Amino acid sequence: MDRTVLVIKPDGVRRNLIGRIVQRFEDRGFRIVYLRMLEMQRETAEEFYSPHKDKAFYPDLIEFITSGPIVVIILEGASAVEVVRRMIGSTNSLEAPGGTVRGDLGFATTENVVHASDSIESFERESRILGLT
Ligand code: CMP
Repeated sequence: MDRTVLVIKPDGVRRNLIGRIVQRFEDRGFRIVYLRMLEMQRETAEEFYSPHKDKAFYPDLIEFITSGPIVVIILEGASAVEVVRRMIGSTNSLEAPGGTVRGDLGFATTENVVHASDSIESFERESRILGLT
């Protein structure tokens, strides 16, 4: 069984989508092994998103991710990283197909409702930065 980090971003929390998002992953068969609401501190956000620090959208991304509570979840299941990435859809919500979290619930690129680890290495890195291990 693999594990992955799923983050419900501040827009998802503000829009009261926590239950509906979690439901999708439970319905699919994933097991929730960790779930916590927290506010990401600026320092943590800068480390979490450091791979994007040279991108034009980085300042807005840091501002956004620290703008309110988020929900951090660890999901466990077969091929968790790959399946969860498919279930959330492409980064730009406008391009994400219907049936995905972003395709059904999102309408932007930075404020795109959720984040999920893109590899097992990212899962390990993100777990460490978020203090989950
Ligand atoms: P996430 O999956 O959390 O990974 C990096 C985040 O940066 C991404 O979701 C978006 O919130 C944001 N992002 C990525 N690409 C862009 C872009 N081209 N314009 C604005 N924001 C972006």
